[in-house]
Amino acid sequence: MRVRPRRLRQTPALRAMTEQTRLHPRELVLPIFVREGIDNPIPIGSMPGVVQHSLDSARQAVNEAAEAGIGGVMLFGVPLEKDAVGSGATDPEGILNVATRVVASEVGDALVVQTDLCLDEFTDHGHCGVLASDGSIDNDATLLRYRDMGVIQAESGSQLVGLSGMMDGQVAAVRDALDEAGHAGVATLAYAAKYASAFYGPFREAVDSSLIGDRRSYQLEPGNRREGVREAVLDIEQGADIVMVKPAGSYLDVLSDVAAISEIPVWAYQVSGEYAMIEAAAANGWIQRRRAILESLVGIRRAGADAILTYWAVEVANWLRENR
Ligand code: PBG
Repeated sequence: MRVRPRRLRQTPALRAMTEQTRLHPRELVLPIFVREGIDNPIPIGSMPGVVQHSLDSARQAVNEAAEAGIGGVMLFGVPLEKDAVGSGATDPEGILNVATRVVASEVGDALVVQTDLCLDEFTDHGHCGVLASDGSIDNDATLLRYRDMGVIQAESGSQLVGLSGMMDGQVAAVRDALDEAGHAGVATLAYAAKYASAFYGPFREAVDSSLIGDRRSYQLEPGNRREGVREAVLDIEQGADIVMVKPAGSYLDVLSDVAAISEIPVWAYQVSGEYAMIEAAAANGWIQRRRAILESLVGIRRAGADAILTYWAVEVANWLRENR
């Protein structure tokens, strides 16, 4: 037998050298929740190890993130007060904008400061957009809110705005608003293929979401593979700088499809439920925590993600450094 694939699996050095997918700290982005009006971080029960930060603890967390050498942080705001149009999102003193200023001045040179551009954290009904009088989501009125959000986030120091609301035309609308306001250098990350997923469950606790109803009129049906690619193509045409697939683990086929056609970077979001499942199984001793985390991330990279948003970003970056 001349052909023996096992030959290259014989020693740790051979295996390490022939590994086809590797993780690097720079490809990891840490999502961070900052809550208004608290002095000490509050643990999120369904995401062991993840907290709602105070401004102070957020400052500490982003310094640790920069120290660990990850690529960036994605900021989410948890405001005290919510209303129908999500006023806090466009208030310069709103928690997300304040946190962005703090984080940008703290670590803006060391990593990429990114902000979630969506209304759900700020609306009392919990939807990603504003509502029409019949209770439906008013797509085009929402775009006007997103435009203002984009500009205020850029002014606060965001370098990459994460468009996660799944409104039609959101990339073009925010791109135009940024350009008109003199922020042509601020990039857009389009959550191009964002599915209506049960795996966002713990996130709703993380941002104290009060969602009434569901998001199925704007997020994608889990069974729709081609539609994920279509959304990515539309966002690329509208001028997105990066496209994302979300969640990651259950949508690796979509990720692979988008990676195959995209000429711009393709990212994936390993969401709260993916985090919670591994943490819960590991806490029960049912799987090996570290191996499972690394395998989940390598799988997402292998499917085509150039970078990954993950709540384990800093911990994994530190493991990768130990390994060197
Ligand atoms: C919307 C948003 C959501 C997540 C990130 N951005 C929630 C949703 O669409 O319901 C989920 C992230 C996660 O579950 O980790 N602003």
